[in-house]
Amino acid sequence: MKNLTGPDKLRTSVFISGTGSNLKNLINFSKKINSPIKITLVISNNKCAKGLDFAKKNRVKSKIYNFKNRKISENKILNELKKNKIQLICLAGFMKILSKNFIKRFKGKIINIHPSLLPKYKGLNTHSRAITNKETFSGCTVHIVSSKLDSGRIILQKKVKINKSDNYKTLKKKVLKQEHILYPKAIKKLLTNL
Ligand code: GRF
Repeated sequence: MKNLTGPDKLRTSVFISGTGSNLKNLINFSKKINSPIKITLVISNNKCAKGLDFAKKNRVKSKIYNFKNRKISENKILNELKKNKIQLICLAGFMKILSKNFIKRFKGKIINIHPSLLPKYKGLNTHSRAITNKETFSGCTVHIVSSKLDSGRIILQKKVKINKSDNYKTLKKKVLKQEHILYPKAIKKLLTNL
């Protein structure tokens, strides 16, 4: 990997819609001396997203776009990304689907974390669907974002055992714990191969 430290760290934007535990984890990761990224911009479609508080506490600039008109919001975001010289986008619980055109503008530079072992359980409600189907394993995946939902090249995955006693809540908690380990690892892996 290129020695991405200090001023050479990749300028990264994290997109969120809700709690932001992955955002919090990535901000903490980015502060480590050997982290290859620097988070300089948070984008949210939801002005009430809890993750925005953490961005503020850490003095990371955040911007909100309502996506009532996706094209207008995306154009504004693209301007903001350009202004902030963003080189990598990490989606972390971002609940809006980005257009083909947006993805093309950042081809290979948008990554996402998904709470299942893709290609299984694309889309929403992954944990309840895995439990209903009596799966014995679930997990999480970090992948490149392509124009097909939850379908781009997989960077890393982590399996999580589903016990008979697990319910939606306990599984979500176990998977989230692994997400927080996986996302930084996947970023390091991706940037090693750039
Ligand atoms: C995570 O489970 C992530 O995999 C999914 O949305 C959830 C976001 O959680 N895409 P948080 O907002 O980072 O806590």
